[in-house]
Amino acid sequence: MSTFKFNFSNDGDAPADNIDKANEQIVWLECEEVTPNKQIEDIEELLAHARMFACGDVEIGHVVATEALNKMYTGDSEFKNAVELAEKEHKDLVAGKYEGGLKIWECTYDLIEYLENLTGIQFENKKILDLGCGAGILGIYTFLKDASVTFQDYNKEILECVTIPNVLLNIEENENTLDIKKCKFYSGDWASFNNKLEDTEVFDIILTSETIYNTTNYDKLIDLFVKRLSKDGEVYIAAKTCYFGVGGGMRQFEATVEKNGLLESKVCWKSSGGILREILKLTKKM
Ligand SMILES: C[S@@+](CC[C@H](N)C(=O)[O-])C[C@H]1O[C@@H](n2cnc3c(N)ncnc32)[C@H](O)[C@@H]1O
Repeated sequence: MSTFKFNFSNDGDAPADNIDKANEQIVWLECEEVTPNKQIEDIEELLAHARMFACGDVEIGHVVATEALNKMYTGDSEFKNAVELAEKEHKDLVAGKYEGGLKIWECTYDLIEYLENLTGIQFENKKILDLGCGAGILGIYTFLKDASVTFQDYNKEILECVTIPNVLLNIEENENTLDIKKCKFYSGDWASFNNKLEDTEVFDIILTSETIYNTTNYDKLIDLFVKRLSKDGEVYIAAKTCYFGVGGGMRQFEATVEKNGLLESKVCWKSSGGILREILKLTKKM
């Protein structure tokens, strides 16, 4: 996995004031609910793009994201231009335009392994939010354990071409119209998503992987956790300890959580080699 890189012209560590200036200029996208109609008709086509995500005993079907995107979006679009720019400049994302959802990131594997082997959490009949879902592997994992799942990704195109097809690939053929109705899909910025949901909508478990790289988003994330977590709910954040060149990381995020004062945080897993990675658990303070 490459080092996380923003859309700055200089490689390596981007100076903090460059990051701040770039963030100030971003016009974050508004939240929209995305409905899975077209993808249900195209299920045969989707199977032609299927691959397997494998992590221990867990296996989840998924499409090859770039192939699926190119097939569905043939014309020019701001999103496709941003993806092409990221590819050309060997970046992981273009802030505010494309936020990295085409790839399956390595902390997703950490969180699946952790949930599968170390927590004993029962997902049946639970309300789950897969926040910043990309391919949606975390949400699909819980969906297969009979949870009802809300999938959120910044880019509508990712939900349409990747997340929704991936959910459909993991549903029994005859049951896809009915079962996919148990899932909801939202695009756009976290602040706008938080505002769009009904005031009473809360989740038992919020799962999120590789979403704390940009410190600009920390207050939005924490506000969302405070408002959308049920009384006894739990948030699991899988992330790198430090995102070089971007400014974010676990310690900065923990410090912002502490400053907010409404959530308890605890590191519940740490990697033992390679790039340092962790899982942070948040609960509401009593
Ligand atoms: C690096 S990708 C991780 C994708 C996926 N969770 C994984 O681990 O494979 C970061 C994800 O966070 C989401 N994201 C980033 N910034 C966001 C923002 N300001 N509002 C909403 N979603 C955002 C994007 O949807 C993107 O898919």
